Amino acid sequence: MTSAPPRPFYDGSVPSDVTAVPVGHVLDWPDKRARQQPTWSDPAALAEVLTTLSNYPPLVFAGECDMLRDRLALAAAGEAFVLQGGDCAETLSGVTGPNIRDRIKTILQMAVVLTYGAGMPIVKIGRIAGQFAKPRSADEETRDGVTLPAYRGDMVNGFEFTEAARRHDPDRLLRAYHASSATLNLVRAFTEGGFADLRSVHMWNKGFLSGPAQAKYEAMASEIDRAVRFLEASGVADAEQMRRVELYSSHEALVLDYERAMVRRDSRTGRPYTTSGHFVWVGERTRDLDEAHIDFVSRVHNPIGVKVGPTATRDDLLRLIDTLDPHRTPGRLTFITRMGSGRIEDLLPPLLESVRSEAEGVTWVCDPMHGNTYTSPGGYKTRHFEDVVGEVRGFFGAHRQVGTWPGGIHVELTGNDVTECVGGSHPVDVEDLGLRYETLCDPRMNHQQSLELAFQVAEMLEQGAR
Ligand code: PEP
Ligand code: CO
Repeated sequence: MTSAPPRPFYDGSVPSDVTAVPVGHVLDWPDKRARQQPTWSDPAALAEVLTTLSNYPPLVFAGECDMLRDRLALAAAGEAFVLQGGDCAETLSGVTGPNIRDRIKTILQMAVVLTYGAGMPIVKIGRIAGQFAKPRSADEETRDGVTLPAYRGDMVNGFEFTEAARRHDPDRLLRAYHASSATLNLVRAFTEGGFADLRSVHMWNKGFLSGPAQAKYEAMASEIDRAVRFLEASGVADAEQMRRVELYSSHEALVLDYERAMVRRDSRTGRPYTTSGHFVWVGERTRDLDEAHIDFVSRVHNPIGVKVGPTATRDDLLRLIDTLDPHRTPGRLTFITRMGSGRIEDLLPPLLESVRSEAEGVTWVCDPMHGNTYTSPGGYKTRHFEDVVGEVRGFFGAHRQVGTWPGGIHVELTGNDVTECVGGSHPVDVEDLGLRYETLCDPRMNHQQSLELAFQVAEMLEQGAR
C-alpha cells in the first residue's frame, strides 16, 4: 500500500522533536471529577489487579505512537486521510480468530478503496484491542420491574441481565488486558506477516456474502493486480513494502483505573504514554475541561482524540487545544466531530471558521455514527446508512466551505453479516433488524455497508481533488 514510507513499523529511533517537548509530566493524578466510572465491588481485589496491570508489559510502544502522530500530522496538513473503524464495544467472547480477521479484512478493503480513489495515504486505525468499556446514559437498567446496574462494557461487567453478571468486577480489567493483547498479537501477525500483502487484494474479498459493493471491489482489485504486476515487471515495485501495512489500535480512554495502570515512561525520553493502545480518545460525555478524563490525556504523549458533539462551542475547542496541545504539535490532537446528518451543515462550518487559525495542527475526523442513532419501531437501536453517508457529505462540504481539510472518518463496523444499520444497496430493512442483531451497544455497519461507504467516500475525495 502506498501509505508507508520505507521504514519499518517501529525502528527504535528517538523522535526528532524530543528536545522541543518538556520531559517529566508528573504521574500523580489530581483529584478531579471522573464521570462514567465503575463502582468496584471489592477494593482489595481492585488494588491487587492494578498492581498486576502496572507490572504487565506495555501493549504498544511509545515509538509506534510517535509514528502514528506523524501520520496524523499528514492528515492534519491535507496530505493523508484517516480511516478509524471497528466495534462499538468489543466483547471478550468476540475475541476469536475469524472475528478479528474479518474486521481487519474489512478495514484493509476500505483502505484500498480509499487509497485507489483518493490517491493519497490512508492512515488505518482500528477501534480494536481495547474498546471494552462504554459510557451509558443511565447508571441502571430496569426490565420487568427488576433494576440492575447498566452494562458498561466487558471490561467492567457482563451483559447478561443477572445480579452476578452486572456486578462491577475488577478481575475484568485483567481479562480486557489479555483480550487486547491476544487481539493485537493477531493484528500484528496479519499486518506484518504477509496476509495484508497488496498482492492479496482479491483474497480479502473472499468469505463474505456477495453483493453490489463486493462486485465493485472485485473489479477494482483486478485493476490493482494489473498495476502491481506492471510495477513488478518494470522492477520498480518494492516487495517488502507491499507485504506489510500499518494498522494502529485505538479505544475510548474511559475507565481511568485501567488507563492509569497502563501508563509507562518511554525509556528513550522519559515521557509518559498510555500503552493500552496507540491512540485514545475522550468521549462526548466525559470531555469537560476541568474533569479527570481531559486531565488524563493531557499527561500522556500519545496522539489523542476528543469527540465533538453539537453542543461544543468555539471556547470549548480553543481551551481543549490549549490544554491538550500547548506546543501545537501537528498530529497530537484529533477532533472527532459527530453532529448528526441533519445538523452538520449548520453547526460545523461556523465552528471550523471560528477556531481556524488556532487549529492548524489539528486533524479533523468525522464520526457519522453517534449523531444518527434512533430506535426502530421494533425497539432496535439503529442508524440509517443514508444518514451516515449524509453526515460524511456534510463534513466534506463544511471543510470545503471553510478551506480546511476533511481529515478522515471514524465508523462502527464489523466484518460479520449483521443486520444492525438499515439501508445500503443490498438493503437491510427495518423489519430485518431482528435477524442478526448482535451488537451489545451501538449498531454497526456490516461488511457490505462498510465497503459501500468506502466507495462513496472515495468519490467525495476524488471530487475534492479535481
Ligand atoms: C462511541 O464512540 O462509542 C461513543 C460512545 O461515542 P460518543 O462519545 O461520541 O457518544
Ligand atoms: Co458507539
